[in-house]
Amino acid sequence: MNVCIIGTGYVGLTTGACLAYLGHQVSCIDTDAAKISRLRAGDVPIYEPYLQELLEIARPHIEFSTDYRSGLAAAEVVFIAVGTPPNPDGGPDLRYVCAAAEGIGEYYEGEFVVVVNKSTVPIGSGNWVESILRESFQRYRGRQANGRFAVASNPEFLREGTAIYDTLYPDRVVIGAENAHALEVLYTLYRPILDQSFTAPPFLTRPEEMSAVPLVSTDLSSAELVKYAANAFLALKISYINEIGRLAGKVGADILQVARGIGLDTRIGSRFLQPGVGWGGSCFGKDTAALLATASEYNLRMPIVQAARDVNRHQRDLVIERLLDELRILKGRTIGLLGLAFKPQTDDLRDAPAVEIVQKLIDRGARVKVHDPVAMNRFRQEQPQLAALRSATPEECVQFCDAVVLMTEWPQYLEMNWSQLATLMEKPLILDARYALDPVRVGRAGFRYTTLDRWNPAPARLAAATAGALA
Ligand SMILES: NC(=O)c1ccc[n+]([C@@H]2O[C@H](COP(=O)([O-])OP(=O)(O)OC[C@H]3O[C@@H](n4cnc5c(N)ncnc54)[C@H](O)[C@@H]3O)[C@@H](O)[C@H]2O)c1
Repeated sequence: MNVCIIGTGYVGLTTGACLAYLGHQVSCIDTDAAKISRLRAGDVPIYEPYLQELLEIARPHIEFSTDYRSGLAAAEVVFIAVGTPPNPDGGPDLRYVCAAAEGIGEYYEGEFVVVVNKSTVPIGSGNWVESILRESFQRYRGRQANGRFAVASNPEFLREGTAIYDTLYPDRVVIGAENAHALEVLYTLYRPILDQSFTAPPFLTRPEEMSAVPLVSTDLSSAELVKYAANAFLALKISYINEIGRLAGKVGADILQVARGIGLDTRIGSRFLQPGVGWGGSCFGKDTAALLATASEYNLRMPIVQAARDVNRHQRDLVIERLLDELRILKGRTIGLLGLAFKPQTDDLRDAPAVEIVQKLIDRGARVKVHDPVAMNRFRQEQPQLAALRSATPEECVQFCDAVVLMTEWPQYLEMNWSQLATLMEKPLILDARYALDPVRVGRAGFRYTTLDRWNPAPARLAAATAGALA
């Protein structure tokens, strides 16, 4: 099929690359001319594993442009995949979606096209986008659109860092459409994924247990709500384990063991039960805020979602509280942050806890050193006002610090030579804000190890290991 994708960010570019890999003819449009020239030159502007490799295979089927007219010329389906960042009042800023819909209305010249909201948009946006398409068409063509546009909702569930895998091997595909033809077109488009009938790329083999992918076909509002409700649930699962973590710290329980004990219950599941500094990234904060904003339009309170947000905010404060507990005074201290991205395998810094913590530490008079394996350039470009010392290596970041905080659990940090790192600090102290390091190993390397809930399970684990060896 001929597909046009508007917006070539994490979602649009991944979707475009995967659909082109499946054999569809894809035209990607973005208003960011610099991004488009990089893509045309074969350069991938974001860090996303396997995206470059997939684009290389898919190159005969994908093109990039800033020009709506040429991009839309042959389109049977148009995806809107532009950003929907948060407004100060919590609701999403829909100006990019509006501009994309206006552009489609202005430049589409064919007889019928399915316009798909892939951006995360508030409930009711399907109808709103359709009205913009119609009005824009009428304004520029001087005649009625007459059923030329059918709007569908196809929420995106990919995770940055595993975006290609999630797109080719999804848990489900959700399509909200009230026009039968639109549903049929999207079904045809996604058929290779739904049936898993495509040849898997050599670098990302199909999981063994993978079978046909469930298609959830709904009306527009239900599809829109699925996306918000799913993200809010994942967010509250993280906040729940963090709340339990605080209690675990008080009573001297090991939160990792507690999380494992909870998560093995198949009714609960172990994913998203990892304690730590809480969620970040472009979605959970924005989508929970948008859910609350929508609810308030109907005079509805959502105290569970609100509490998940409150707990998450407090986790970030805990980093500062713990450093104060350990060092007493932060003014004049040097703190090293290992990791800036909101999670490993991405360079995305949107709502990254590390960025907020850099600011909080600077506000308290600390010197801050930072390192990240892939997000350093983005940090420099996006946060020029933050006077943190950018380190080229983890060793440089750790050297002469009063404390080091593990902010992102990049695998390369977990595997570092911690004994050598300990020699670079006068009193080696590590605050593991992700509960990702092995406290026994780091402790043996010479570090005082601590976590957000204060509980250091190292002595208990050491004792258990010794008892095991004795037995
Ligand atoms: N990033 C994720 O992990 C993720 C996951 C699921 C859903 N989503 C949702 O998908 C949407 C896109 O997110 P993203 O992370 O890909 O955003 P992004 O900021 O990475 O990319 C958006 C792109 O749209 C372009 N753009 C803006 N206005 C445009 C216009 N009028 N015409 C053409 N291009 C335009 C921007 O230049 C940018 O390249 C958001 O609604 C987001 O909530 C994101």
